Amino acid sequence: MYSATEKALIVSIWEKVTPHTEQWGGEALERLFAVFPQAKIYFKHVDTSPGSAAIRSHGDKVMKAIGSAAGDLDNMSTTLSSLSDLHAYNLMVDPVNFKLLSHCILVVLANHLPSEFTPEAHLAFDKFLASVAVVLSHKYR
Ligand code: HEM
Repeated sequence: MYSATEKALIVSIWEKVTPHTEQWGGEALERLFAVFPQAKIYFKHVDTSPGSAAIRSHGDKVMKAIGSAAGDLDNMSTTLSSLSDLHAYNLMVDPVNFKLLSHCILVVLANHLPSEFTPEAHLAFDKFLASVAVVLSHKYR
């Protein structure tokens, strides 16, 4: 459950992300693969070299999915249901990787939104990304 303040922070940060989903999503994945190279094992069929078009395109998809969850915080498990199936049953992504990607997304947001990404916004967004991760991996349990 989110407080009204948390919801407002998540929505206002997401409004700033929307025009940049491809670039910022690409940056988050580039960081993931550079800082936590073990995450590359899920992307053997994808060009994970820095700046690759495939990374940007995938980053765009990931960020847009996060945006759909941000737009309907109370119904996230319905909104993300097919992605949950994909990550849990088809891709079998070890849940620890969601924490690693969330961390990279937070760093990208802090870089691009230095004044908006206050400690309160950081806290709200961390909670939000942690719940996205729970939804995408809950079918493991
Ligand atoms: C595919 C979202 C985390 C690995 C996808 C797709 C989306 C998505 C939207 C494309 C689905 C489609 O094309 O129908 C997310 C979100 C995440 C997340 C919102 C968490 C915030 C992760 C993590 C990993 C991962 C942590 C592994 C390290 C993959 C792979 C694919 C995929 C391997 C398929 C790529 C391809 O074949 O093109 N994800 N994802 N995802 N995701 Fe995730």
